[in-house]
Amino acid sequence: MEEKYKLIYQKVEAMVSEESDPIANMANVSALLHETFGWWWTGFYRVDGESLVLGPFQGPVACTRIPYGRGVCGTAWKLRETIVVPDVEQFPGHIACSSLSRSEIVVPIFKGDAVVGVLDIDSKELSAFDRTDAFWLEKIVALL
Ligand code: SME
Repeated sequence: MEEKYKLIYQKVEAMVSEESDPIANMANVSALLHETFGWWWTGFYRVDGESLVLGPFQGPVACTRIPYGRGVCGTAWKLRETIVVPDVEQFPGHIACSSLSRSEIVVPIFKGDAVVGVLDIDSKELSAFDRTDAFWLEKIVALL
């Protein structure tokens, strides 16, 4: 898994050196991660006022807006830290965009001191994500 993440990191580094548009880069990062790991849903939400709005993603149709502090995404935004959820049914307030999602990781994206969005990944397997995923995904979104 570390090797896959290293390769993705290098590809994203190259990608952002050639293209500065954040939406275009988020679109390709979601595709790259989704294809490599075969997750259920991989995508971005961007901060828009008091809520997160759906951004580029790969996977099934998802909720378009998530208020500050709500769900795993809104909580990661509020706490300003990565949240790993081994079992979504155990996370109070989890927003089920898809009933097939069993575990999740949400990584905030910072611009300076401000959170400007989150990377959200869902898996159909329980406990699909750990601190290694958090470490690499934080490094990858820091390039955006
Ligand atoms: N489960 C997320 C909502 C987004 S979807 O998983 C794509 C949450 O609780 O914030």
